[in-house]
Amino acid sequence: MLAGDEPNSQASMIGLQEFAPNIWIVDGPIVFDTGFAFTTRMTVVKLSDGALWVSSPVPSPFETLEQITKLGPVRYLVAATPRHVWRLEAWHTLFPEAQLWAARNTPMTLKPAHLPLTGVLSDQPPAAWADDLEQLVFKGNPLLSEVIFYHRRAKTAMLDDILQVDPPMAGRPLQNAMARFGGVAAPHGGVPLDMRWTFVNRRLARQSLEQVLAWDFDKLIIAHGDCIEKEAKPFIRRCFRWLTN
Ligand SMILES: [Fe+2]
Repeated sequence: MLAGDEPNSQASMIGLQEFAPNIWIVDGPIVFDTGFAFTTRMTVVKLSDGALWVSSPVPSPFETLEQITKLGPVRYLVAATPRHVWRLEAWHTLFPEAQLWAARNTPMTLKPAHLPLTGVLSDQPPAAWADDLEQLVFKGNPLLSEVIFYHRRAKTAMLDDILQVDPPMAGRPLQNAMARFGGVAAPHGGVPLDMRWTFVNRRLARQSLEQVLAWDFDKLIIAHGDCIEKEAKPFIRRCFRWLTN
């Protein structure tokens, strides 16, 4: 099951939570995709120059927006997967001066947005955030276009849909069974089964995995499920065992 999101959301807001030095997360509303409910999360990074970099922005109440703007000016809005591009629209309205960056589109892109993108995310971080973040397009799957980020000083990796740890949803037994079948159910989580099936170039995928694991990180932010506070590398290795064995 792919964790795509559509903007027909219910309200369930928590607020800004500090995750690591200069990194915050905000849990957004539950969203629905083809009848399935997904949790959402955005990541806010304060860059060395004081500007804010926001990945996969979620609908947020005024109080949360106020907390964020107190951290610094929102200069960059990022969709690291085309399935989160729709989320940039509302934030573009809120912060029209912020640059918009997105992963390349794929046939799985939800609601392709007609936004004035500054650029498409590649393996090379733009100069704007290169002092703080590294990035990598995870390769080997034509249906997947996800960019993984790494914050050097905070030793934190950040990804969206490629790994999920979907919590059980109350009153949704079919979805919970599908999550278990798809290998993404909490507490273990993993790479969704349909995503695993579509890695047609496993050599390239293994290369991407090795590049990610070469980064010096211990924490991991994911968009769907509980983040990993420590020992994130063994977690990622376990989730990709199907690729490396
Ligand atoms: Fe997602």
